[in-house]
Amino acid sequence: MAGDSAIGIHDLSFATTEFVLTHTELARHNGTDIGKYHQGIGQRSMSVPATDEDIVTMGAAAAAPLIARHGGDGIRTIIFATESSIDQAKSAGVYVHSLLGLASATRVVELKQACYGATAALQFAIGLVRRDPAQRVLVVAADIAKYEPDSPGEATQGAAAVAMLIGADPALLRIEEPSGVFTADVMDFWRPNYREAALVDGQESIGAYLLAVEGSWKDYTEHGGRAPDEFAAFCYHQPFTKMAYKAHRHLLNYCGYDIDEDRVARDLGLTTAYNNVIGNSYTASLYLALAALLDQAEDLTGRAIGFLSYGSGSVAEFFAGSVVPGYREHLRTTAHRAAIDRRRPVDHARYRELHGHSFPTDGGDHRTAAETTGPFRLAALRGHKRVYESR
Ligand code: HMG
Repeated sequence: MAGDSAIGIHDLSFATTEFVLTHTELARHNGTDIGKYHQGIGQRSMSVPATDEDIVTMGAAAAAPLIARHGGDGIRTIIFATESSIDQAKSAGVYVHSLLGLASATRVVELKQACYGATAALQFAIGLVRRDPAQRVLVVAADIAKYEPDSPGEATQGAAAVAMLIGADPALLRIEEPSGVFTADVMDFWRPNYREAALVDGQESIGAYLLAVEGSWKDYTEHGGRAPDEFAAFCYHQPFTKMAYKAHRHLLNYCGYDIDEDRVARDLGLTTAYNNVIGNSYTASLYLALAALLDQAEDLTGRAIGFLSYGSGSVAEFFAGSVVPGYREHLRTTAHRAAIDRRRPVDHARYRELHGHSFPTDGGDHRTAAETTGPFRLAALRGHKRVYESR
């Protein structure tokens, strides 16, 4: 039987970038029919970071409102999930810990498995809270999705960070047992350490995702999970929002249902509003789907939500959460909409400049132009050290 752990997501907040590129502008440049972007992949715009923004500045900006509301007391662990790592040794979470002024009595670690990392972080956090229910764990998922210019992946770029406070008696969502898990060694998408842009076999990646949906669902049901009809909505990892539709139809087919498009729209319709304008944010994407659902749904009190987390390479997990009574009082809908609306549009030429920007690797003193209007910025790279500041 599906069980309610009474541990889960106590608060959730997200941040994204200073700039935004619309798909209309991208299509105007590359001659693509805009229908392919708007209908075909279901994307309208993508977040583009300023040169003084990265996973740390976004992660800290996402987490700061949680600390402002709840204080830092009780947070003894920060798990930073990303596949856009800025250092091979030091966790990006240590910079976030410092920018937020958290206590030294904290463990901080970085996790990686493509877009799946944040779900691993969530599950590991639940384990820590089960061991010590007084503890809260700060999970930060932050990524910048970057592909080669003029490649098919270019239209599926984006960037964002989600911060979640995981604890006992959560105010938003109780994470249930069981989870269904799945791993397969596939090369659908990867990024060798010497590359900034990911390599991807687009069609293979879609097939690998669908296989992982089947595999994780099968394991979920074999461990006593809920039936499809018990869910009020399904949040999928959304590399582009149409992928959620492909995945959900695949799941329903696999479960023996005839595809009813009204049902598919009901199950997914409210989960795509943020990813549709932010683009792929890798680890953060699934939890942006949750934010969009909670921020827009009439009332989900007591209802079950299904989650399908997919990370290329590949690892997937299907799990469920039940929505806590009173959750609507704790939502950050206005701030979430503001994070999207405050972005400044860039034209194609400026986007390409930002896309091509990289820091010199000579260890000199390289200051960044002050571009972001967000609360934190990457001020310089000095002696191979990243220097951050609060604004
Ligand atoms: P593509 O191959 O250029 O596009 O790139 P396409 O030809 O497959 O067309 C896309 C859709 O638009 C199709 O619909 C077309 O029919 C339609 P579908 O057949 O799929 O339903 N279309 C149009 N519709 C309306 N009007 C038109 C029109 N023209 C075409 N005029 C692809 C698409 C997704 C492959 C590419 O963007 C890509 O490689 N993206 C990156 C990889 C990716 O996102 N994969 C998703 C699964 S893997 C994953 O989720 C993990 C990931 O997040 C990484 C991680 O885990 O860390 C990527």
